Formats: sequence, C-alpha cells, structure tokens
Amino acid sequence: MTTLLDVQNVSKRFTMGGIFGRKTIDAVMDASFSLSSENPEIFTIIGESGSGKTTLARMILGLEDPTEGDILFRGEQVDRHAGRAERLKFMSHVQPVFQNPFEAFNPLKQIERYLESTARRFLDTSDKAAIDKAMDDSLQKVGLSLKEVRGRFPHEMSGGQLQRCAIARALIPNPPLLIADEPVSMVDASLRMSIVNLLKSLRDDLKVSVIYITHDLATAYYISNRIIIMQRGRIVEMGDARTVLENPEHAYSRLLKASVLSTDDAGAGKLGTDPTMLDQANNSVGRAGELVARPDGRHVRVYA
Ligand SMILES: Nc1ncnc2c1ncn2[C@@H]1O[C@H](COP(=O)(O)OP(=O)(O)O)[C@@H](O)[C@H]1O
Ligand SMILES: [Mg+2]
Repeated sequence: MTTLLDVQNVSKRFTMGGIFGRKTIDAVMDASFSLSSENPEIFTIIGESGSGKTTLARMILGLEDPTEGDILFRGEQVDRHAGRAERLKFMSHVQPVFQNPFEAFNPLKQIERYLESTARRFLDTSDKAAIDKAMDDSLQKVGLSLKEVRGRFPHEMSGGQLQRCAIARALIPNPPLLIADEPVSMVDASLRMSIVNLLKSLRDDLKVSVIYITHDLATAYYISNRIIIMQRGRIVEMGDARTVLENPEHAYSRLLKASVLSTDDAGAGKLGTDPTMLDQANNSVGRAGELVARPDGRHVRVYA
C-alpha cells in the first residue's frame, strides 16, 4: 500500500498580539492520519466552527506552515516555500474547493476565464483547442459543458452550478486529491445533495480522494468512508464513518450527534443542546489524554 497523504503529529499554534497581552491559540493539536493511494475515499473532517478544520486543510494545501509535525504527499514534504515549478506540480495533485463559490469567482469576470487560466497554467499550453477540450472535459465531469458555461458571469448561475464550476476548475489538472472545505454550506438546501452526490461520483468513477470538511453529520454519514471528529483542535474520535456515527463513543461525538436536530437555522455549526451532554463534552477538553485504538478499529481520545 502506498501512501497518498500522510499527516504526522501536526499542530498549529497561532500567536497574536504584541509584547503586551500576547495570546496563543492552539488551532490544531497533534493531528495524525493518512490516506492510501490505492483506495480512493471520502475522508471527512467534522467539528463545529472553530474546531480547526480549515487550519488543518490549509496546512495540507501548503497554505500554512505547521508549528509542529510533518505533512507528506506521496512521500514528499508539503512545502509552502517551494519554488514556483514545484508548487505548481504539487497544486496539480492537491486541489481545493472552497466554501463560497461566489467569493471564489470575481463577479465581473466570465466563469470560463477562470477555467481557461487554470488550464493554461497546468497544461502549460496556449493552444486554444487543447484548452477548450480540457475545460469541457472537466465541466462534463461535474454535469455541465463548456457550451452551457461559455459567456456567463457568476451571478447568472445558481450557487449549486457555480460550485460545480469551482469543482470543474479544481479537476482540470486531474488531481488525485480534492480538499473541499464546507463545499455545500453556502449552497441552497435543495441543491446540496446534488453536490454531495457529485463528490461521491468523483470518488467512485474518477477515483479521486476527497477530504470533505463539514459540520453536517447527515451528509458526512451519507458519503464518508472514514471520519475524524475534531473538538477545539484535537481529534477526539476517528474511524469508519458508520461505526463512529452510528455509535459515537467520545462525549463530544455524542454531543455532535445529539445536536444534529438543534443546529441553528443559519447553519453556523454551533451547538446548543442538553446541558449535561454539553458539560461532559466541555469537561473532556481539559482532561484530554491519548487517542486509543478500540477493537472495532476506531480511535477514541480517552480522559487523562
Ligand atoms: N490566521 C489566524 N490567526 C489567528 N487565529 C486563527 C487564524 N486562523 C484560525 N484561527 C483560529 O484557530 C481556530 C480554528 O479555526 P479554523 O481552523 O478556522 O476552524 P474551523 O474551520 O473548524 O471553523 C479558531 O479559534 C480560529 O479563531
Ligand atoms: Mg472553517
């Protein structure tokens, strides 16, 4: 088995403020997991807002340096400071999809311009027919076509269509790994499942691995192979998605599950639920011990 991505004891501490009142935030603490090259999967990172999901994703994308630990892609260190050519090569293998497609696209620029500049960059060509073909191939993979997109501006599309275009753009270099950071949270509820199903088909039909970041347990349950649950920077539970979500063991995982029906309408991923569960989960933060393997294959953080 060869390793596609290896995250080894990765931590990120942000330090803010000047000499007076310096403040540190441990956004990610000692995260470890790996993805294999042979078995494309949807690997989900779940946790409420502020739990460190985006910071972890940004480190994997090489947009942020870990404070500690190593991130290896196909055995090579992900390096934010690598030269341009090396960085481009890395980006052709690991592509991001962000939360808000309306922010990812300039409202005054035609959508195809983005696809075109991405194709130009990764294909290293200015041959118009080759670029058009690459754009159309990628758009077909997300259920669109160049014909449908040509000449259109972001506001002329729905959030769901635009997110498809963002995914098409990410697919242009044929990356084996996509990192999708809350890709459906800004998309109308009625269109969410179509995007989630698209991620599933990227895995099943194109053999692309997806790191799917969400605070939504329902879609996580539906598409994930494995999940990690993060609480305030720490992985508290990790394993087969069904095993973990059907019968969560850690107090925080149980709280998350119980909160599914009580997340606020804005979908901000804040928890509000039974005070006893909340207490137990909060209490677990201060007493976090080791991540321990269970007989069923999952890992659960025990109390120190
Ligand atoms: N650039 C930054 N500087 C300082 N603190 C940050 C920065 N980015 C994230 N944080 C903090 O790190 C924690 C984790 O944030 P984030 O990774 O965005 O969580 P999530 O994506 O799960 O909502 C939060 O407390 C957040 O305020
Ligand atoms: Mg985030």
